[in-house]
Amino acid sequence: MAEKKFVVTPWEVTGEVDYDRLIRDFGTQPISATLAKRLEGIMGDSAYLVKRGIFFSHRDLNMVLDDHEKGKGFFLYTGRGPSGPMHIGHILPFYFTKQLQDKLHVNVYIQITDDEKFLEEKRNLSYEDTQKWAVENILEIAAVGLDPEKTFILQDTEFVGHAYPLILKIARKINYSTAKSVFGFTGETNVGFSFYPSIQILPSLLEKKRCLIPSAIDQDPYWRIQRDIAESLGFHKAAAIHSKFIPPLTGMADKMSSSRPETAIYLTDDDKTVKNKIYKHAFSGGQSSIEEHRKLGGNPDVDVPFQWLYMFFEPDDQKIEEIRTEYKKGQLLTGQLKDILVEKVTRFLHDHRERREKARDRVHLYKKDGALAREMWKHDFSKS
Ligand code: TYM
Repeated sequence: MAEKKFVVTPWEVTGEVDYDRLIRDFGTQPISATLAKRLEGIMGDSAYLVKRGIFFSHRDLNMVLDDHEKGKGFFLYTGRGPSGPMHIGHILPFYFTKQLQDKLHVNVYIQITDDEKFLEEKRNLSYEDTQKWAVENILEIAAVGLDPEKTFILQDTEFVGHAYPLILKIARKINYSTAKSVFGFTGETNVGFSFYPSIQILPSLLEKKRCLIPSAIDQDPYWRIQRDIAESLGFHKAAAIHSKFIPPLTGMADKMSSSRPETAIYLTDDDKTVKNKIYKHAFSGGQSSIEEHRKLGGNPDVDVPFQWLYMFFEPDDQKIEEIRTEYKKGQLLTGQLKDILVEKVTRFLHDHRERREKARDRVHLYKKDGALAREMWKHDFSKS
């Protein structure tokens, strides 16, 4: 049978992603049942994203946990490209990172790549746009509630100059043919964008401990290069834990897109918009009439409301399995499943927004004045 076509790069996700094939193509490891159990032992209930296979792939996660157990420690790194409002998928790695920090009390570095989003020409963003979105997005991230003394948010256009000596050392190790083959750069690519991978690698080298990077699997190509060069610079190879993509509301293929607002729910969407989007646009795995549905049941595997509950909004294992069973048997109707999702998303967004208002006064701690931020701004990168 011909393999289905899909594309996953840091800038593009199209088609219906075959995650097993991505593991093979990217050369990562599936998270085995043993490794998942080990993480569950540490994270407790908050490991549901791992247990359910939402975080499904990794690099060297076992070595990170070894280092943790031996008392060597490790640190976390994740990021956001401020190209517009953040949707539910964008915030998932940050909540997961918070769960890890809460349990393990490790440092977290968050890179805001305003430079990347300016250089990515097809987005057509002005420099001012990227600055505005950086401010907005940082507030969304602050709302997640990471420890302000142990979390450093580095906005590239502000911090990269300070770290330039180490960035130069990274850049000199990456030759153009590697960058071209990993990222598909061509003669049309601007030189800023060609240099940019050195900048996304930087935060993985901010400590001499092992770095664990939670994100969706689209960002992995950077870590492939990082792992080729880190040891020669005296650092550890980056470890990563990769998630699947929360699918667009409109169906299991492609990704949520800012140019098609009906595909995504944004953290800024109000209650009415949430309701409208879910009732109008969420792809259903139910049957075309109530009678048929009662007779044949729905298909949770392609039903986006079910998938959203499973992937993020219903952490309770027993509840989600009840929903699955009732939906498959046709006892739960499409409209009722959508009601459950609307209720969950609305509550989540209410709580998130409340935290966002409280977080306004904390942003300076993440960026400049918290203990980790101060340490980083003081650090002499010519000696890294
Ligand atoms: P960005 O802004 O495209 O995405 C931010 C984070 O969200 C993840 N993501 C998703 N996760 C689940 N479901 C989805 N539908 C979904 N869409 C996006 C991304 O994988 C990412 O983790 N270049 C990066 C910024 C960056 C970064 C990093 C990200 C810099 N350093 C280190 C992760 C780790 C970017 O533009 O991400």
